[in-house]
Amino acid sequence: MANDSNKFQAIISHCKEYGFIFPSSEIYDGLSAVYDYGQYGSELKKNIRDYWWKWMTQLHENIVGIDAAIFMHPTTWKASGHVDNFSDPMIDNKDSKKRYRVDHLIEAHAETLPKEEGEALLAKMDQFLAKEDFGGLKSFIEENKIKCSVSGTCNWTDVRQFNLMFSTEFGAVSGEGDDNMVYLRPETAQGIFVNFLNVQKTGRMKIPFGIAQVGKAFRNEIVARQFIFRMREFEQMEMQFFIRPGTQKQWYEYWKEERMKWHLSLGIPASRYRFHDHVKLAHYADAACDIEYDFPIGFKEVEGIHSRTDFDLRNHQEYSKKKMQYFDNETDEAGKPYGNYIPYVIETSIGLDRTVMMVLSEAYEEQDLSSPEKQDSRVVLKFPPKLSPVKLAILPLMKKDGLPEIARQLMDECKASFRCFYEEKDTIGKRYRRQDAIGTPFCVTIDHQSKEDGTVTIRHRDSMLQERISIRDVKELVEKSIQ
Ligand code: GAP
Repeated sequence: MANDSNKFQAIISHCKEYGFIFPSSEIYDGLSAVYDYGQYGSELKKNIRDYWWKWMTQLHENIVGIDAAIFMHPTTWKASGHVDNFSDPMIDNKDSKKRYRVDHLIEAHAETLPKEEGEALLAKMDQFLAKEDFGGLKSFIEENKIKCSVSGTCNWTDVRQFNLMFSTEFGAVSGEGDDNMVYLRPETAQGIFVNFLNVQKTGRMKIPFGIAQVGKAFRNEIVARQFIFRMREFEQMEMQFFIRPGTQKQWYEYWKEERMKWHLSLGIPASRYRFHDHVKLAHYADAACDIEYDFPIGFKEVEGIHSRTDFDLRNHQEYSKKKMQYFDNETDEAGKPYGNYIPYVIETSIGLDRTVMMVLSEAYEEQDLSSPEKQDSRVVLKFPPKLSPVKLAILPLMKKDGLPEIARQLMDECKASFRCFYEEKDTIGKRYRRQDAIGTPFCVTIDHQSKEDGTVTIRHRDSMLQERISIRDVKELVEKSIQ
């Protein structure tokens, strides 16, 4: 098994070699922090997306889904605070021209120091950041002799804010200033907020209720060298849960617990997760935490849970001059009607690509299968069967004697219910290894005995155990495993 730092590189290579993930437009040397999903990656991603969607919108009766556009009226992003606040302090090294997020630069330096010294450095950095004292930050970097990793010098520009939103021009006429400018959404959440009343009224939804959405988001990330962990174009799976003001603490705790249940239902042990409560809160939140997973690059955020108050709906009401209120006809314990109010919101926001990386990291295993007689090894992706790109490989032992016909018949019976893969070529051992490498939970081999007694050999990916079962039981066995 590769150690953790090598494991990350091994996963990246494996994803490319086996058709999961390719660098975008690779024939032109790629585009930084943009990736394409191949034949198996797109299946894996779709399975995770569908699993999240079903769990959130089908199993929670008070949550419905929408699919809003990526382009939104530009005022949306003024109201949401993204035009003014969605930026990171950056600094450039004058010699290498390399740009750094200031907090990342200082954090990397802190890691090279003894523990207490590093912590003191970070505490001081937080003070400058909280006060937005950028002059102070620059002096602090210089005083601590924090160097650029490329040039090795301490020759820095001033610290500047850099907005992470991509903008483009809308309509046929370009170059007419800000009037035509639109942004590629940096989060899917705002598509939910602006549709809050459309959904509430047409769906006759009663508070508490949620609106879920999956879709692309775009951020001009500065430090983006971590494969699909930090991308410039990525997918989010978000849910806004609308509640009565004053109940946010209780619902925040509920969603922390509920989302952790979802993570554990992926078959990942609790010890691989942890909560990280935010001390420094985003501009919209009164409480926030991350669910972190122990990636090969360390514990990192995979999902955020945010108590967003009424910040977004209130601001949309102010900017659009349209009421964003809900009429609550229930009464409180004292019998007083709740009446009209702007709902508070608890948000759950998980990155789909980051979840793909989490599932890949958890599933990836290099196994040494050597015996005294021969050297052997395999790479196996131990996905939960419900997430595997291919559920069943159907492998006739030979290309003749009527075996392909039996195999094809099984393929026809199963392929409408779940994804199957048919292959006649190469030795059975090689075919098994290829299926292990893409995480197929079951392989079925059709041999001469199948012709005589209607049985096949089914091979289980994780244990590699093989058993003989009736060909009539194959479909049900696979279906049960992916429920
Ligand atoms: N609406 C709230 C929001 O967008 P966030 O913490 O900025 O909150 C939520 O993002 C999730 O989106 C993160 O937990 C992460 O999984 C994913 N995400 C954010 N930026 C990303 C990026 N550049 N590449 C891949 N995933 C990203």
